[in-house]
Amino acid sequence: MANGADALAEIKDILVSSKRIIFLTGAGISKESGIPTFRGKDGLWKTYDPMKLASLSSFLKNPSLVWEFYTYRQNLISKCQPNAGHMAISKIQEQKGDSWILTQNVDDLHRRAGSRNIVELHGNIFKVNCIHCDYDLDITTIEDMDMPPKCPNCESILKPGVVLFEEPLPQKEWTRAIELASTCDLVFIIGTSLNVSPANSLPSFAKENNAILVEVNPEETWLSNSMDFSLKGSASDILPKINDPLN
Ligand code: OAD
Repeated sequence: MANGADALAEIKDILVSSKRIIFLTGAGISKESGIPTFRGKDGLWKTYDPMKLASLSSFLKNPSLVWEFYTYRQNLISKCQPNAGHMAISKIQEQKGDSWILTQNVDDLHRRAGSRNIVELHGNIFKVNCIHCDYDLDITTIEDMDMPPKCPNCESILKPGVVLFEEPLPQKEWTRAIELASTCDLVFIIGTSLNVSPANSLPSFAKENNAILVEVNPEETWLSNSMDFSLKGSASDILPKINDPLN
């Protein structure tokens, strides 16, 4: 496995010759925008219990508590800006038409960085869905909604537009993600601990197609040893260097 400048040069060559590219992103890419990750030293799940605050069963039992957690996160995220990592991906996408972001993040920062071809695997915190009918709504702030908010169509409870634990991934997005991972030449796996299924199976779909796997993460993950390149560092530092030689 190459390291440092050699690795960056090799990755740049692979990037230029690749047809379909995927960026599989997780919470780490948004850390330097001020959004905490879930795991690790300062991770959200160190302080908060995901089964109490982010699971379907807890939502059905106590929707106001789950809403309180997501309102807190939505307020925090709405004050954050895309960072150099999000911007570098957006710039690479300008040059590589067949490039896709498969993100576990709900923060909307890829779109705000100007990216396109974004598949949101865990939903979007600026959306709201009804738990019974097909009502959904885009929102910029949920501060003014009565808690828990009610569906204007069927009077059921509205849920934050994110995937909760015990919920399946949205079918259309998941099918598309498998299709893209199974047909790509190159995958960047950025800022994810690869702890959460099924998103963490996407690198193996790509590997079956002989795609090159490049991990960008300051820490080792359980899949680091299976990567073709494991770049140790922050996304906001490394991704601009990958984009740079393309210009
Ligand atoms: P995690 O919090 O599990 O992992 C974040 C990863 O980002 C870790 O491997 C860190 O080492 C890495 N990291 C930290 N700072 C970084 C930086 N500046 N640049 C690059 N990487 C950095 O987050 P996810 O893997 O995204 O799901 O978590 C997956 C899912 O678990 C989330 O979507 C969420 C969570 O529970 C639900 O809520 C359903």
